[in-house]
Amino acid sequence: MISTRVVATAGYVPEQIISNDDLSKIVDTTDEWITQRTGIKERHISAGENTSVLVTNVAKKLLERASVSAEEIDLIIVASVTQDYGTPSLACMIQKEIGAVHAVAFDVIAACSGFMFALSTADKYIKSGGYKNAIVIGGETLSKIVDWTDRATCVLFGDGAGGAYVEASGEAGIIREDIGSAGDQYEILTEGYTECANAFNDKESSIHPKWYVNMNGREVFKFATKNVAKSIKKVLEEEQITQDQIKYFVPHQANVRIVEVVSKKLGIPFEKFYINMDRFGNTSSASIPMALNEMNEKGMLEAGDLVVLSGFGGGMTWGTMLIRW
Ligand code: COA
Repeated sequence: MISTRVVATAGYVPEQIISNDDLSKIVDTTDEWITQRTGIKERHISAGENTSVLVTNVAKKLLERASVSAEEIDLIIVASVTQDYGTPSLACMIQKEIGAVHAVAFDVIAACSGFMFALSTADKYIKSGGYKNAIVIGGETLSKIVDWTDRATCVLFGDGAGGAYVEASGEAGIIREDIGSAGDQYEILTEGYTECANAFNDKESSIHPKWYVNMNGREVFKFATKNVAKSIKKVLEEEQITQDQIKYFVPHQANVRIVEVVSKKLGIPFEKFYINMDRFGNTSSASIPMALNEMNEKGMLEAGDLVVLSGFGGGMTWGTMLIRW
């Protein structure tokens, strides 16, 4: 049976680092408030590199690390809510930059669960037998869609990209997944609302306040703790394995308190969750692949290790995946 294995990972962040103290100079906040409520200390912010630059850097690193040529790539899927354009997709822009002339390329939107949805899609293409490999990337420049005067949201996010090169394999890679959507709750987390506009409409077009990230933090917190815990439990139960067989849990890096609640609910030691939001903030679809790549670069993962990736985000959406390294 064909399985999908992660062969290489990569990440890229813009150079500029903005600390909580830097933020306290532009909005009424403090390092103490942000650290206690979220676990975030600093984040990388783009000073001009748009999302296509971030994701293309990741794609180039993936080709190098997997020792494959661009012409050999069958599929490019990018997850993002901060594309450079409405069209073309970021995946098509990568295709041009690296010269992946034979690839099918498209983007998916599932907000902070985006990488899980993209990886799940790549897995299905590969298991269909028609595609032997894929580049899957999550990348964001959230700095361009946050309201920098809103202290309740601008302190949470950061820019970055991460991804994986995956390949068809006879050995188990992606073992089991649980992805889901709860569109009935979409209003608790939105961004990018654009007004209707046309040549026959005399209304001035302007940026609608809901164009920026708009969030009911408490409701999102509740959604996350409930659904991430439920989703991880479901995947472990369906695979009939226990949490002690899992080497690491790689959660979406939104808020350390969300991870603490999930860890308590499931009785999983907090130390088994990989945390790097202190240095990157919430990078939405990039957060899980950036964390996985960091663990990989540090040599934390060995062949055969079982790892659980789990995220949640706008839509509302969630996604959990059990993979064998
Ligand atoms: N600095 C200082 N005070 C702030 C602040 C900031 N950056 N942001 C909000 N506050 C204030 C609020 O104005 C409020 O003040 P008030 O009591 O005088 O009205 C107070 O802090 C409490 O706000 P509240 O929103 O209730 O705080 P909270 O404990 O729920 O924490 C979040 C806010 C956003 C950190 C938390 O709700 C959260 O993390 N939610 C999940 C968000 C998330 O994960 N989003 C990404 C989804 S992918």
